[in-house]
Amino acid sequence: MKAGDMIVTSSIPELRQWRWQQPAASYGFVPTMGYLHEGHLSLARRARAENEFVVVSIYVNPTQFAPTEDLSSYPRDLERDLALLRGEGVDLVFAPDDALMYPPGFQTYVTVEQATQGLEGASRPMHFRGVTTVVAKLFNLVQPTRAYFGQKDYQQSVVVRQMVADLNFNLEVVVCPTVREADGLAMSSRNKYLTPPQRQAATVLSRTLRHGLVLLDEGERNGRTLRAAMQGMIEAEPLARLDYISVAHPITLQELEQVGDQAVLSTAVFIGKTRLIDNMLWQVREA
Ligand code: PAF
Repeated sequence: MKAGDMIVTSSIPELRQWRWQQPAASYGFVPTMGYLHEGHLSLARRARAENEFVVVSIYVNPTQFAPTEDLSSYPRDLERDLALLRGEGVDLVFAPDDALMYPPGFQTYVTVEQATQGLEGASRPMHFRGVTTVVAKLFNLVQPTRAYFGQKDYQQSVVVRQMVADLNFNLEVVVCPTVREADGLAMSSRNKYLTPPQRQAATVLSRTLRHGLVLLDEGERNGRTLRAAMQGMIEAEPLARLDYISVAHPITLQELEQVGDQAVLSTAVFIGKTRLIDNMLWQVREA
């Protein structure tokens, strides 16, 4: 199917035939679960600027959702997504269904062992197995030169980089800055679930992380003290329920007792039933 100049397909042979028409060209790839927002579009724009061809996938991947999570209610609007991607000059959208991605008899999964242990991996035990499995399949199908991920899912970007290195995928992982609303809330398809008072309360994530950065800039280096200060801010918001707050090393994701010259501050918070995540990187400033 053609939508404007953009090809929209759910066919693996069609995707492969298109991909290999110009084998030596550069291909930028943005994997998404649809219901696109400015964060996704910033990835598509970056891919457009850096590659000859741009592929976006839209697929709500069931294997990364636990049975208790929001798979069935996850927001979807394919027509709107396609219009937005057409506006960004995307060349091909791959929008498979479950039968294509996980046919009967499917039994192979990709697991990154260590980087998946803490943070999101601790709260959502099978989540990253689903992410790495689907991302590995999509990388095999698209064979991109570069793949684009948002910093908002920081641990995901670390896990995908590890998988790319360990399994020798011949591509570069590009991680792009989190795109935020004017009041600091990180853009997420799940923000749609928030009622107006919850939407206001949701700013507690970015306010808390920014406070952590300020404490670090002021010289606080004790991980426990930083976590306690940030936890206190989240707990002061009546509509928020803390899942985790973390001060970790940005590469190993190990919790830090004492911060050295860099850290990633991250948090997951329930606002009502909606679970939101956010993170900010900190680096010591040269005097
Ligand atoms: O970040 C996401 O939207 C998903 O985890 C991804 C990478 C598209 C895999 O389903």
